[in-house]
Amino acid sequence: MDWLPTLSDRAGPAYQRIVDALAADIAAGRLRRGQQLPTHRALAKALGIDVTTVTRAYREAQSRGLTEARVGQGTFIADAPQLTGTTPARIPAHLDFDLSMNLPPHPPEADLEGRIARGIAALEREHGFSAYLNYAESGGSLHDRGVAAEWLRPRIAEANADRLAICPGTQAALCATLLALTAPGDVVLTDRLTYPGIKAAAAHARVRLVGVAMDDSGMVPDALRIAIQRHAPRLLYLVPTIQNPTTTTMPPSRRAEIAEIVAAHDLMLIEDDAYGLLAPEHIPFATLIPAHTIYAASLSKCISPGLRIAFLTAPDAGVNARITASLRAMLQMPVPLITALVTRWLGDGSADAMIAAVRDEAAARQKMATRALAGFDFTAHRNGHHMWLQVPPAWNRAEFAQQARANGLAAVASDAFTVADGSDTPPHAVRLALGSARNRAELSHALDRLANALRLPPPTAQVV
Ligand SMILES: Cc1ncc(COP(=O)(O)O)c(C=O)c1O
Repeated sequence: MDWLPTLSDRAGPAYQRIVDALAADIAAGRLRRGQQLPTHRALAKALGIDVTTVTRAYREAQSRGLTEARVGQGTFIADAPQLTGTTPARIPAHLDFDLSMNLPPHPPEADLEGRIARGIAALEREHGFSAYLNYAESGGSLHDRGVAAEWLRPRIAEANADRLAICPGTQAALCATLLALTAPGDVVLTDRLTYPGIKAAAAHARVRLVGVAMDDSGMVPDALRIAIQRHAPRLLYLVPTIQNPTTTTMPPSRRAEIAEIVAAHDLMLIEDDAYGLLAPEHIPFATLIPAHTIYAASLSKCISPGLRIAFLTAPDAGVNARITASLRAMLQMPVPLITALVTRWLGDGSADAMIAAVRDEAAARQKMATRALAGFDFTAHRNGHHMWLQVPPAWNRAEFAQQARANGLAAVASDAFTVADGSDTPPHAVRLALGSARNRAELSHALDRLANALRLPPPTAQVV
């Protein structure tokens, strides 16, 4: 028989009463481990309440570790339900938490796995799998590129199918772009702290990266001018929104200054907008200076990195063709079945719904982290997946990362992000990623542990 909670004898908002009833029924043995719960719709109907209230209750129950969602099947009581408060006491002390991988969270309301299952089944039904088992165009078909361009257009005013390539991820797009547009020995300018993937791509293309000074608003315009004069760079690479690792988002005035310098020096900018869809209010350079911008928008941070889908727009069809030829040489094409699935999601609103759910979850996790780390020195963006934490003055970054590891926490020290120019040392900071914890309860536990580690004196100070 379906579970039907009694809410009338409980206090608080309806969703909270459902969660409390769920916890009480598990504790009393009225709900068994692995037992399936009614669908959101069925429970809403039975209780005479709105379906969004049930969705909220199920999300809360999952983040408290009471329940788990299974692909295409529904919601079930967890195998080891956590019955005490929002921070489960029963997370084993030895469990390790990975705060190093910058993944998007997978909130149940994004329904990613359900959408994959239903979307693939629909493609099979409508076209048959054989339609997707052939070689396909390297930058995606004209139809798929058209759908992607239309989807990007609210953000990238001039997005157009003949200047757009669907790529198997930004990393491939960056590598293809460097190989297509630079020669070994060329200089590419980046922020002094930047995404390690551009460092790997530059090494592969034998391009020299030169780091440019940053402040709280991003790359410093005067430092950029000097670097252009000194190094005659081939390209400039920027992550203007929720920068990795510093979380800096360039305000409009800084965007305008940098755009003016790029245009005045007829420079080409690679704008990596990996996190831009989490903060869509910021206008990309690809809209400000389209003739000077190669723009990459990835689904990795706003839906899932396993899809390996990014959209690259180039200033003209010629540059697009060169990058696409480079992609073909390396990777042939994005996987047709996944490309078709994503194209479907772009067209039917699923992509937007998933991105909104991921953004909400990211915002909730940022709030938790801001609370847990109050008093420590960090920067963060309210919708970002990561934080940039200055380690307390008594520590250095390597010792702190080691100490965190000893406490079962993985975080990335600043060295991985530093573009070395031989003069300055990396800052004593680490990047913390909040998205890979399976739920908020786990994240809360990891943050508590981190805050404890931050309060400890370094080992040398302990000996003295
Ligand atoms: C700035 C930036 N660009 C690109 C990527 C990777 O994107 P993709 O998975 O599309 O290759 C990351 C991942 O951490 C990133 O931080």
